Amino acid sequence: MAHSLHLKRLEGKVAIITGAASGIGEAAAKLFVENGAFVVVADIQEELGLKVVASIAGPDVDRAIYKKCDVTVEKQVEETVAFAIEKYGTLDIMYGNAGILGPMDSILDMDMEDGFDRTMAVNLRGPALCIKHAARAMVKRQVRGSIICTASTASVLGGMGPIAYNTSKHGLVGLVRAAASELGKHGIRVNCVSPYFVATPLAISGMSAMGINNASGIEALASSAGNLKGVALKAKHIAEAALFLASDESSVYVSGHNLVVDGGYTVVDNSITMLMQMQIKQ
Ligand SMILES: NC(=O)c1ccc[n+]([C@@H]2O[C@H](COP(=O)([O-])OP(=O)(O)OC[C@H]3O[C@@H](n4cnc5c(N)ncnc54)[C@H](O)[C@@H]3O)[C@@H](O)[C@H]2O)c1
Repeated sequence: MAHSLHLKRLEGKVAIITGAASGIGEAAAKLFVENGAFVVVADIQEELGLKVVASIAGPDVDRAIYKKCDVTVEKQVEETVAFAIEKYGTLDIMYGNAGILGPMDSILDMDMEDGFDRTMAVNLRGPALCIKHAARAMVKRQVRGSIICTASTASVLGGMGPIAYNTSKHGLVGLVRAAASELGKHGIRVNCVSPYFVATPLAISGMSAMGINNASGIEALASSAGNLKGVALKAKHIAEAALFLASDESSVYVSGHNLVVDGGYTVVDNSITMLMQMQIKQ
């Protein structure tokens, strides 16, 4: 087995992960701690967040800590950054991962406040606040930090989820690029990771209207529509991509990047080939 698999790739680094009480954020918190990081599990779901901390920190109780944080509220994001620095002494990594699917409305009857504005507040304003306050702390301390956001395949293709969600994720890539541009001079990298379907509570809530309400149903659907066959995308695989962006392995020059983890889904279109093959068979 390759030696590098056993290296702790974030030894001694301090990370905040938003949306870490569930799904992709939870998997990232676990993986970051396994790789030697100290992690602030920031989320609005307190009970789940505390459970995540208890399950990942183990006997080394200081490795992870829960902090209640609503990413739409600037004061709470600012306090979460201050909390990480007070607790662990610095901030090396901000992973702004919290997100919501929002309502499944069509644009024809979209609820502008509870649908569009709320989705933008969590999925776009939230990461903007995370970047702002993490970068302020990093610049002040001259930390060459890594900031990561979770976008989505909905950041590069239309039709991937509800309209407000789709729009927010496109906007998030713009935010990441703009922030990478501004923060480059401070040695701070800003990237995002863009998952295809992962069977988390967010995805399950979105699919329930179609009668799919469990992980295996989502994975079956994702696999049949997906390009790369024979594997189900899990939260851990996204956490591994985020780990790469957080770690020194990407530290030399990877910034402003949208790391799409979709088995090629957004860059291939097999529909013409399939039609041609059907014609040939006839
Ligand atoms: N699951 C997928 O198929 C998929 C695909 C592409 C992108 N994503 C993105 O991945 C990210 C994580 O989602 P997930 O799939 O793990 O879903 P999830 O529902 O399991 O986790 C999302 C977490 O974010 C938290 N959260 C929601 N609003 C918040 C707020 N205002 N402040 C702080 N925390 C808040 C929730 O409490 C929850 O713990 C999201 O940004 C989502 O858009 C998910």
